[in-house]
Amino acid sequence: MKNHKKVYVYKGFERFWHWNQSLLIFLLALTGFEIHSSYTLFGFETAVDIHNKAAWGFIILIVFAIFWHVTTGEWKQYIPTTKNLRSQAEFYLFGIFRNSPHPTQKTLISKLNPLQRLVYLGLKILIIPVMVASGLLYMFYRYPQDSQIALINIDSLELIALFHTFGAFVLMAFVVVHLYLITTGHTITSNLKAMITGWEELEDEGESTTAKNKESHEN
Ligand code: HEM
Repeated sequence: MKNHKKVYVYKGFERFWHWNQSLLIFLLALTGFEIHSSYTLFGFETAVDIHNKAAWGFIILIVFAIFWHVTTGEWKQYIPTTKNLRSQAEFYLFGIFRNSPHPTQKTLISKLNPLQRLVYLGLKILIIPVMVASGLLYMFYRYPQDSQIALINIDSLELIALFHTFGAFVLMAFVVVHLYLITTGHTITSNLKAMITGWEELEDEGESTTAKNKESHEN
């Protein structure tokens, strides 16, 4: 039986960013799909108003998150790796149903497994930029310029709407998988608790983790 140790994995800002991001994406999706005419909830005008406000909140949060990732060096968590990628995928497809052990060990310097690294990096450098860029084009196409952005020669909203809606579906698919995967930690609620409190029980790797943890907690 391996030893477990409580480790401070998610810092204050990280948790603030994570929960605000999830709230904003929830609001953006809820109002976005009303704008898309999937259902009626707030009424079109109010949905647009909430969507625009949440979008600006999201952009501000992204700016702070970029600053935090760069200044803390946490961006390195998202460097993709092929090491263990296959075994991680096999674990989610088969091993998890047979009670096999997790193929990758969560540590302070490597909090994400190889699949998470790839997926989160994809969100950060592809899906979220597409949402922000298409959303801003949508916003400014519609309002100040009154149906034209002469500068970039767009004469129809169609392509922008297509990208924006496609991104919204990808994000929704991510959320579904994400909600399932958070239940697959050490215990069913351990990942959720970790993102709320910052602390998580990780397998004890001896001195190095403890020392690093102590050091990072003091910072
Ligand atoms: C900073 C990010 C974002 C900005 C600036 C933005 C902006 C906009 C704007 C201006 C519209 C058009 C509103 C109108 O017709 O008057 C729109 C529509 C929409 N947004 Fe966003 N949005 C953002 C993020 C998101 C996110 C994260 C989601 C979903 C998870 C989302 C889902 C949608 C959907 C589904 C529509 C309707 C598209 C259509 O049917 O053409 N948006 N967004």
